[in-house]
Amino acid sequence: MVAPLRVGIAGLGTVGAEVVRLIESRASALASRCGRPVRVIAVTARTKAKKRSLDLRGIAWAKDPHQLAENPDVDCLVELIGGAGEPALSAIETALKAGKSVVTANKALIAKHGLRLAKAAEAHGATLNFEAAVGAAIPIVKTLREGLAGTSINRVYGILNGTCNYILTRMEKEGLSFDECLKDAQRLGYAEADPSFDVDGHDTAQKLAILSSLAFGTKVAENAIYVEGISSITPEDLRAASDLGYRVKLLGVAVRTAKGIEQRVHPTMVPKSSSIAQVMDVTNAVTVDGEGIPPMTLVGPGAGGAATASAVVADIADVARGVRVSPFGRPVEQLRATEKAPMERHEGGYYIRLMARDFPGTAAAIATRLAEQKISLESIVQRHPNGVDLARSGGKASQVPVILITYATHEDAVYRALKAVQRDKVISGRPQVIRIEKN
Ligand code: NDP
Ligand code: HSE
Repeated sequence: MVAPLRVGIAGLGTVGAEVVRLIESRASALASRCGRPVRVIAVTARTKAKKRSLDLRGIAWAKDPHQLAENPDVDCLVELIGGAGEPALSAIETALKAGKSVVTANKALIAKHGLRLAKAAEAHGATLNFEAAVGAAIPIVKTLREGLAGTSINRVYGILNGTCNYILTRMEKEGLSFDECLKDAQRLGYAEADPSFDVDGHDTAQKLAILSSLAFGTKVAENAIYVEGISSITPEDLRAASDLGYRVKLLGVAVRTAKGIEQRVHPTMVPKSSSIAQVMDVTNAVTVDGEGIPPMTLVGPGAGGAATASAVVADIADVARGVRVSPFGRPVEQLRATEKAPMERHEGGYYIRLMARDFPGTAAAIATRLAEQKISLESIVQRHPNGVDLARSGGKASQVPVILITYATHEDAVYRALKAVQRDKVISGRPQVIRIEKN
């Protein structure tokens, strides 16, 4: 009888509880795929007394993640606590330094300390796997690290946050408020413990930082990414986008350019007919453009306990089989540094929504400022809410939303034009600007 892989799990929340269940329910399939049984022998979480719908009989309870990492009976530590710092960081480091394998779903930690942990894994001949950290059930880490090892990659992009895609989908389809949709995403176990990581774009940036490193052989550098979240997107933007044939998605994009790797996360208008626009709800999609192969897209559930557990257990199975590859696909020393690409030079079309003062000549003033920056307009729409002409009320000039769609231009030109429009005092408030991506 081959010795079982003895697993210790730190964190029994949305993901951890599903991992315990999956290992139990797939025990015989796992044993046959791995050539040895996989057994959870110890667990820990913050509150031992918490009621959990889990059968933990026969499984030891460690007093904290550290003790679990140090337990000589544990071969593989599975970290499902979350957070870029303690106790996850030192528990993983302790396990790696003892030569134990580690599996984690923690993108915040891998984005911040991934290189340090990968170095510790290399130094101690240990395995560090983090498939579930990006795209939950989608095997994109393995695809980039192993499946595409022979391909030079030019671009990786996609929808990397289930919570944001879920919110944008429901706001658009059901007209619900941002807050209602976020509450549901939390209830369903999609959102991070602090959901601002999701909606402010940082969760997507952490995942993109990991994918960039795997795709381009660069050092993981979350701070090299330009980040904007979705909290400024209003139902009005979603309606206008829809009327104009677009849908709004939070995209993460990493692209090889002459000046290095451009990495950005921001709400993006994509044509309704594009394949990325069909990706709805909690689903994620990652497209890889490689040299000599047509773009390929992996689509699947990007959050949730069961989806994430699927990837965690696949990583554990690799450990059980004795598969060990460099965590970032090559030795840490060979990863190159990357610099933040300036967004000012970003080129593309733009959606601009302005609250224009409803005076004669306002539209002409706006068009003039855009023309001065050599920005051509694909369309300009003045929207009177509910069809009511609010041109004047009570003797005061009122405001009318004006939507502009530009042809491809540079970002700095857009912002120069909008500053001039603001100086002209023909608009009020901050203009809403959303980049357009057509392919
Ligand atoms: P939860 O908040 O549901 O669970 C966190 C678990 O960690 C809980 O069991 C909690 O204990 C335990 N915990 C918290 N602090 C400590 C501590 N100081 N010491 C010991 N245990 C602690 O998180 P998720 O399961 O949603 O996420 C876990 C990880 O997976 C995160 O890194 C997340 O980013 C990642 N992930 C999550 C996905 C999802 O869809 N939820 C998808 C992909 C990745 P207690 O139960 O006692 O409170
Ligand atoms: N909060 C994350 C999301 C979990 O919504 O995508 C999956 O990484």
